[in-house]
Amino acid sequence: MDSQSSDGQRPAQVIRDNTDQGTWLADLAITKHGALHNPGELTMLMRTLYYVQPATILEIGTYAGGSAWAFSRIRSVSHIVTVDIGPQAEAAERLASLPCRATQITGDSTDGNTLHRVKQALDGYAPDLVFIDGAHDYKSARRDWDLYSPLVAPGGLVALHDTQGYPNNPTVEVAVLWNEIRQNWRTTELVDKPGGPGGTGIVWI
Ligand SMILES: C[S@@+](CC[C@H](N)C(=O)[O-])C[C@H]1O[C@@H](n2cnc3c(N)ncnc32)[C@H](O)[C@@H]1O
Repeated sequence: MDSQSSDGQRPAQVIRDNTDQGTWLADLAITKHGALHNPGELTMLMRTLYYVQPATILEIGTYAGGSAWAFSRIRSVSHIVTVDIGPQAEAAERLASLPCRATQITGDSTDGNTLHRVKQALDGYAPDLVFIDGAHDYKSARRDWDLYSPLVAPGGLVALHDTQGYPNNPTVEVAVLWNEIRQNWRTTELVDKPGGPGGTGIVWI
C-alpha cells in the first residue's frame, strides 16, 4: 500500500508489511475511515497506545469515528465512549461494527450534564486514555481538560490534539492550554509538523 502526506511535501511512504501495526492502522484510519489526523502523528500516537495497552477509552470529538476506529484495533481495548456535539451519523455506522464495545454520546462536552452521561457510560471504569479533540478554542479545551482528565486511571494518559495550533487559524487555541499543562505535568508532545497544523500532547497521569 502506498500513501503520501496530504500536502505532498514528503516522499510517498511505502508500507509493504504489517511489522509496524501503528503505521498501517494510522494510514487506514485516515484514508478509509475519515480520521482527521496527520499520518505521522497518528502513527506515533498508536505506537504509544500499543505501549500503554488501554482497556477503556474516552474520546471528546467523534466526527466520523475514524480515530475511534484506529483505537479499537488495539486488542486490549474493550470499550470506547465517544462524545460529539452533533449526532455524527457516519460515526454511528462505523462504531456499530467495531471489534469492541462503543458508546456514542451526543452532547456538548463542556456541559456538566454530558460529564454525568459519560460517567454513566463508563459504568465505574476509569478510562486509560482520554483523547481531547472537540472544540479547539481555549475555554472549551480547558473545560474538557478540567472535566475529563480527573477521570483517567493512574498510569493512563490524556492526549490533546492540535497542540501546535493551525497556521492562519487563531481560533485553534489548544497551544495556550498545552503550555499551561506542561508547567505542572509530565508530558510528551508528538509532532510531525512543527508550527502545525497538528501536534498531539500526551499528559502522563
Ligand atoms: C476534529 S473533529 C474530531 C476528529 C476525530 N477525533 C477524529 O480524529 O477522527 C472535532 C469534533 O468535535 C466536535 N465538537 C466541537 N465542539 C464540541 C463540543 N463542545 N462538545 C462535543 N463535541 C464537539 C465537532 O462536532 C467535531 O466532530
